[in-house]
Amino acid sequence: MVFSVDSLFSALLFILPAYFANAFPVVAGGGAPIDLGAKFKDGNRLFGDGKTIRGFLAGVLAGTAIGAILGFILPGTAFAFFDSPITYAICGFLLGLGTMLGDLCGSFIKRRFGMKRGQSSLLLDQLFFLLFALAFALPLSPRGIYTIENIVFLAGITYVAHIGSNFIANRLGMKKVPW
Ligand code: CTP
Ligand code: MG
Repeated sequence: MVFSVDSLFSALLFILPAYFANAFPVVAGGGAPIDLGAKFKDGNRLFGDGKTIRGFLAGVLAGTAIGAILGFILPGTAFAFFDSPITYAICGFLLGLGTMLGDLCGSFIKRRFGMKRGQSSLLLDQLFFLLFALAFALPLSPRGIYTIENIVFLAGITYVAHIGSNFIANRLGMKKVPW
């Protein structure tokens, strides 16, 4: 594997809309849950109260907005992976949509295992959204992004960011446990 700093930096910029989409519902979410209280045949909620309509839309919008901003900044630079600004916005939308659907799928699976809202599962909480986001933006074929090195790097960074953000949230008193 050959890790090049330019390529890793491009990959980080590329995934930024997914990170924002993942984080934004925490502050912008609330209101009616997507499943409207519906239960699956196992008696547990379909997704649970942690997945709201407003949070979902806020996540997709946040991803699109960050994509649009990247479209203003990146074309013509060494880190560009598309030529047209509009493609960055579309990519942000797809990353946001993939992130929110991956997040929803993660919660669906957690509920099937009887896990309560907010109970953490590293794989389902952190890597599912990343995989979905990457899958959704794949058809746009961003230049030089989908390499083994970059995927490994993004999975690693996402893991570290997860540990880091939980530690900070714990220190700020927003979370009882530092994981
Ligand atoms: N959120 C939301 N709508 C979404 C996703 C998230 O409103 N579609 C908000 C909720 O307030 C949620 C918070 O963001 O509690 C954190 O999101 P997440 O960690 O994904 O949800 P959890 O509450 O941990 O629920 P789950 O166990 O289903 O993951
Ligand atoms: Mg959670």
